[in-house]
Amino acid sequence: MDKIVVKGGRKLKGAVKIGGAKNAVLPIMTACLLTRGVSVVTNVPGLRDVVTMKSVLERLGVVGSLDDHTLTIDTSGLSGFEAPYDLVSTMRASIYVLGPLLAACGKAKVSLPGGCAWGPRPVDLHIRAMQELGATIEIDHGYIVAEAKGLKGRPIKFSIPSVGATANTVMAASLAEGTTRIINAAKEPEITALAEFINSMGGRVRGAGTDTVVVEGVKELHPAKFRTIPDRIEAGTYLIAGAITGGKIEIEDACPEHLEALILNLRQAGVGVECSGSVISVRGKRDIASVDVLTSPFPGFPTDLQAQYMTLMTVARGNCVISETVFKDRFTHVPELRRMGADIKIEGNTAHVGYVKRLSGAPVMATDLRASAALVLAGLIAEGETHISRVYHIDRGYEGIEQKLGALGAQIERVPE
Ligand code: UD1
Repeated sequence: MDKIVVKGGRKLKGAVKIGGAKNAVLPIMTACLLTRGVSVVTNVPGLRDVVTMKSVLERLGVVGSLDDHTLTIDTSGLSGFEAPYDLVSTMRASIYVLGPLLAACGKAKVSLPGGCAWGPRPVDLHIRAMQELGATIEIDHGYIVAEAKGLKGRPIKFSIPSVGATANTVMAASLAEGTTRIINAAKEPEITALAEFINSMGGRVRGAGTDTVVVEGVKELHPAKFRTIPDRIEAGTYLIAGAITGGKIEIEDACPEHLEALILNLRQAGVGVECSGSVISVRGKRDIASVDVLTSPFPGFPTDLQAQYMTLMTVARGNCVISETVFKDRFTHVPELRRMGADIKIEGNTAHVGYVKRLSGAPVMATDLRASAALVLAGLIAEGETHISRVYHIDRGYEGIEQKLGALGAQIERVPE
């Protein structure tokens, strides 16, 4: 296993290019199951989650190849219908095969993902939506076993705007008979990207990006070519890296409209942020002010940037409150940040973050993808060396993070543990 070693104290300078959005690519990959033939997705990040999803598809008889950020998916040989435990347990997003397999093959067997580092994370909304569309579902030996003799479109109302359940429902409804109206749908840009991909396959999805998505089922879809959107969480992480180091960096190939909530908070904290087309410029300051945050579904402040933002707030003047409303227990980075000298107290789903003059380098452990990014950010400003172990988490969502930060002037390397 590798670890990442960061020596703190460098102001970051220069430009960094943002890759394609992992969370858009994953459902787009499974949406390819809705048709037979070769689809091509460009601007695909070279990440472990993308490789895992490729393995999930390969178990179904699909042939996939990822070469220079271009992903080719050939579903001509689609023959299986099972997403097994060994893959689903490493990546929950494997559940994205449920809707497309049901719609295209009439059956699907998907391992239940179980709990995760952030608490229970149920999949009841996915299951209920498939049942509403006419599937029969049983839970058998830890698997969701689903069957349908033709899905039928109908109104579906979610109690929570779940990204994953919205994506699965949009995919399944695309080949259903009639119209499906999804009420209280997730509005995340990744849902809009999925809808655009399905429409480029000949589908009829309207309203993506709003809380009501209308899917008119079609008889068949065809393979398509699609360029995916920029990764807003990667971009947000580099924005915070510029802010926390008091640096001056340009974030290129980003989509500023997808990051409004973070940009507003950073500006309130006194950080200079300018947007021009697909470039976001950040000018850090010596003294940053504390600004409270409440995570919420898009367009609110993303839960996937909560850990990184908390690192910034540990050295911001004043006290602030960070409330996590999307997931029940997403503070696994807190004990590690405390080991580096941060002043953070947890009360339920709220973190009270006090000001410390500096963080100090320490051996720390990455507990999940975004928590690892938060620890790298902490290492960038900590006194001395920070050794981050279990960095396989970071490879799920940040392509070449050592190279990108290194090119901006950070002292960072990956070494075998
Ligand atoms: C996706 C993202 C993840 C992000 C999250 C919220 C991917 C691959 N992952 O996860 O990075 O943090 O959106 O922006 O895109 N819920 C239920 N029942 C369900 C499904 C969800 O109760 O069946 C709850 C969850 O526990 C959570 C909330 O709904 O409290 C939102 O979760 P959801 O939007 O579904 O997250 P994911 O799609 O799993």
